[in-house]
Amino acid sequence: MHVRMSTDDAWGVAADVLAVPIVDEPDFSGPLAAIDARTGGSLRAMAALGELRAKRFETALVLGGETTARWVVAVGAGPSEDIDRTAIHDIGAAVVRRLAGRSVASIAIWMPPLVDALRGDVAAAAELIARGVVDGMFEPRSIYRDGLDDAPPLIEELVLTGVALDRAAAGAAAEKGVIVGEGSALARTLSNRAANDVSPDVLADEARAIAERHGLWIDVIDERRAADLGMGMFLAVGRGSDNPPRMIVMRSGGEGERDGLDRHLALVGKGVCFDSGGISIKPANRMDEMKMDKIGACTVIAAIATMARLAPGTPLLAIAPAVENMPGPHSTRPGDIVRALNGKTVDVINTDAEGRLILGDALTYAERLGATHLVDVATLTGAVGRAFGELVTGGFGTPQSWFDEVVAAGERAGERYWQIPLVEDYLPGLESWYADIQNTGTSDGGLVKSGLFIREFRTVPWVHLDIGGSGYFRKAKPYAPRGATGVTHATLVELALAGARPS
Ligand code: BES
Ligand code: ZN
Ligand code: MN
Repeated sequence: MHVRMSTDDAWGVAADVLAVPIVDEPDFSGPLAAIDARTGGSLRAMAALGELRAKRFETALVLGGETTARWVVAVGAGPSEDIDRTAIHDIGAAVVRRLAGRSVASIAIWMPPLVDALRGDVAAAAELIARGVVDGMFEPRSIYRDGLDDAPPLIEELVLTGVALDRAAAGAAAEKGVIVGEGSALARTLSNRAANDVSPDVLADEARAIAERHGLWIDVIDERRAADLGMGMFLAVGRGSDNPPRMIVMRSGGEGERDGLDRHLALVGKGVCFDSGGISIKPANRMDEMKMDKIGACTVIAAIATMARLAPGTPLLAIAPAVENMPGPHSTRPGDIVRALNGKTVDVINTDAEGRLILGDALTYAERLGATHLVDVATLTGAVGRAFGELVTGGFGTPQSWFDEVVAAGERAGERYWQIPLVEDYLPGLESWYADIQNTGTSDGGLVKSGLFIREFRTVPWVHLDIGGSGYFRKAKPYAPRGATGVTHATLVELALAGARPS
């Protein structure tokens, strides 16, 4: 998608559709009056009918009239005080989804109301709206279906109109937004693919192709090497499947090289290509959703690819332990004791608490490769979704300053996080009679315990982002379809970009 900045009047821009955000109640005494006049008063008429209001994501589609556009779509942005970066992004995506099934190749968006709502931050508004438009085009149904007649349109040109100040900065920011949106689409496409399509080995092949495309170093550790290395937790999860496990390791920059913030940052993503629960098998109801249990892996693979486009050569690691968690004659049994890569013995009480096992070994391995700062992303628990729903990602971390940095990157990216405490008093609940630690305890404080368990397998600053709720939508939203959301991709890119050296 090509992006263009325009100082022209909104109604004079050549585009198929002109999108007009409505902040607060529509005010026809201001600039909206001039746009409305060119639609022959349609917008005002729609407002009178209650079809055009401040309510976020409500839309009114009217004919372009005397404007140069074929249609004008007014989109509710909500009260000005509630508009943040997340909202700007979502509004961009909602506009595109509102045009589903129509033949639209170019959209002009009238920016001043959004820029004002962000207190004049033109670059942020341009970046978020452009990323939103790209995200709005994403259609998971087209992975396995042809000829959908209600897919969102493919937008070839986005025109941001009414951008008077900081045009060069806004243009560069919009380009960045497009690239981050494209990276998110890569993560979402991989994530949405079925488990009979994307096995750990296929995910590794996809990662190899991505690495080749972007000049990234890649190493795929197979089950024999993993055994030689001593990745007992990782191997314990993969044993039950005929599809062997793969530890996918990607890097930009040199081995152990520090970035501009003196970090060797590692992004670690849970790659359970299917989570049946293993011998501790899950109930049949909604088990199909567990093909989504690889979203963390897909997200970190996409994030390092995005970084290769935005700031090539920035020192960065992405590690994706990929496995299939299946019951079978070779499966790990509840009560089996395995030795983790860091030497600790682990009592596998519940084979369905598999994410923490593969992440533990991946985090240890990241440190072996020189990582000084760790972030892991995982669809780790159902509990985080019950606590925060689909719109907020729960996170843990230590030290606090590192958690705060990750959340600050999330703030810039327009993604929402909430911290869960690592309450020490729950740690005895993971004590095992037979081993150094067990992978689950009682369900009391279970979410906190998931974080405490992973914490045992790293020594450097670490953040764990649990996207069990936010990783995929069970139902479509006005701004996103059902399926993988791409959440945390933009945050991880922001976090890594902070250490990029100016080119
Ligand atoms: N992948 C699941 C978590 C999950 C469940 C994510 C539903 C999204 C939707 C994870 O491996 C799991 O099974 N977690 C268990 C942990 C329990 C056994 C301690 C859970 O949350 O029930
Ligand atoms: Zn899982
Ligand atoms: Mn599980």
